[in-house]
Amino acid sequence: MSRKIYVFDTTLRDGEQVPGAKLNLAEKLAVAEQLAKMKVDMMEVGFPSSSQGDFEAVRAISRKIGKDVWIAALGRAVESDIDCIYESIREAENPLIHIVLGSSEVHVSKKFRKTPQQVIDMGVGAVKYARRLLPQVQYSLEDASRSEFEYLWQTIEAVVKAGATIINVPDTVGFAIPDEFGKLIYRINDRLKNLDPKVLLSVHCHNDTGLATANTLAAVKNGADKVECTINGIGERAGNTALEEVVMGISLHEAYYGGHTTVDTRQIYETSRMVSATMGLDIQVNKAITGENAFAHSSGIHQDGLLKSKDVYEIMDPETIGAPAMEIVLTARSGRHAFMHITRQLGFDIPEESMGEIYQQFLAMADAKKEIYDNDVLTLLKNSTIPSSGNNPQLWQLINYEMTVARGLPSATVTLAKGDKEVVTRQTGSGVIDALYGAIMEAVDAPMELIDYRINSLSRGKGSLGKVTTQIRCDDQLFAGKAIEQDVMRASALALINAINKMVLEQAFGYQQEALH
Ligand code: KIV
Ligand code: ZN
Repeated sequence: MSRKIYVFDTTLRDGEQVPGAKLNLAEKLAVAEQLAKMKVDMMEVGFPSSSQGDFEAVRAISRKIGKDVWIAALGRAVESDIDCIYESIREAENPLIHIVLGSSEVHVSKKFRKTPQQVIDMGVGAVKYARRLLPQVQYSLEDASRSEFEYLWQTIEAVVKAGATIINVPDTVGFAIPDEFGKLIYRINDRLKNLDPKVLLSVHCHNDTGLATANTLAAVKNGADKVECTINGIGERAGNTALEEVVMGISLHEAYYGGHTTVDTRQIYETSRMVSATMGLDIQVNKAITGENAFAHSSGIHQDGLLKSKDVYEIMDPETIGAPAMEIVLTARSGRHAFMHITRQLGFDIPEESMGEIYQQFLAMADAKKEIYDNDVLTLLKNSTIPSSGNNPQLWQLINYEMTVARGLPSATVTLAKGDKEVVTRQTGSGVIDALYGAIMEAVDAPMELIDYRINSLSRGKGSLGKVTTQIRCDDQLFAGKAIEQDVMRASALALINAINKMVLEQAFGYQQEALH
């Protein structure tokens, strides 16, 4: 068995430093619960001396979550901060005091205006003080990657002798290069394990030049025992190392890194969506592992290859991170093979001799709409002259919707059809989308929960197309739906209906499992 790499999540501390991402207590608790469900080893949940609100949140999380996971809180190397950390985390089962103090020339001489020895003494004093309160103390040498090596080591040696149980080496300003950072960690680890093999060596990288994940993995390869990361890589400035990237990187190359994590990777997707939604921070569409396009294939050549065998273009199954099944995005570049596949998935069997004609109609539609989703294919088939190709009795279709906002109260009336059945429902809501979605869900009348709704403009100006992405959960399975329309209310309705139809097809035919057969 390879060595265990400890995963320390700092979404609720470094991640929460992103402007506008501040969470309230209930939101912090919900994120912490999800992180615990994902089985991170340690989570850093605030800087308690920074505000009363932060203190309360750290204490609430320590009380509620601090059973199977270490709870850490950060402070400066001063007694008042350490007291505050202690008070906020002492009720956790495994509390961890995290002290930060600069070690680079610029921090020592310009920020602290002290001599190097005075800074070491400050760190040693702080660690000794903290160790009188709790058995686990992490010491972070801020700006370590820009520090002079012998001074760095002198500090590490002194604080370990004073009782630090974890040494954290941050690339605070995202300046490091993977090869050099790996060598730095190798040198430190070599000396540290001789000094005290029980002390964990940790890294914390920022992403200012896009190298946070590469630097962290180089450190793991060179002996780091612990990685600090955030969900979706959020954090100060350009962010931190993305947890999902490091965890999946290690998992795909366990033999190379000689290590493994015990994170439940099937919770990654949901955690990522939750953090994005509660903090109001969008995930870039091409974000590794969790971006909307991470498992979407649009090139005709790729689609054809994937339909022959998934492993032609897929290095991990979306299921391993709990994401909805991989997606074939129909565009004007999609070949017949992909188009036929989607029509079959929707339950239609188009006669071979009609395929050419329908495919040409599809290409004309794709030229106009950029991306083609299930409702578009249904509309295409419905309007086509090919007999019996336009109606799958299993699937919901949008016939009409009307929105009103009277005296500030939005309401929606929708007409949906499924086979010969037509259902009309009306709902009010806290906003127009809430009302619209309430009415659609009432019409469909199936157990489901909306877990994500996003809207983006595909271009600028009044005539722009709106793209809506939704996700629903039913029986612990996720179903995503998308739609592109000029009318964003219609796009919203269709995106939800597309997700619902995926759920219906899954229940009827095992759609997700059959996605590539
Ligand atoms: O970036 C940094 O140096 C930090 C420390 C507190 C670890 O966030
Ligand atoms: Zn940081």
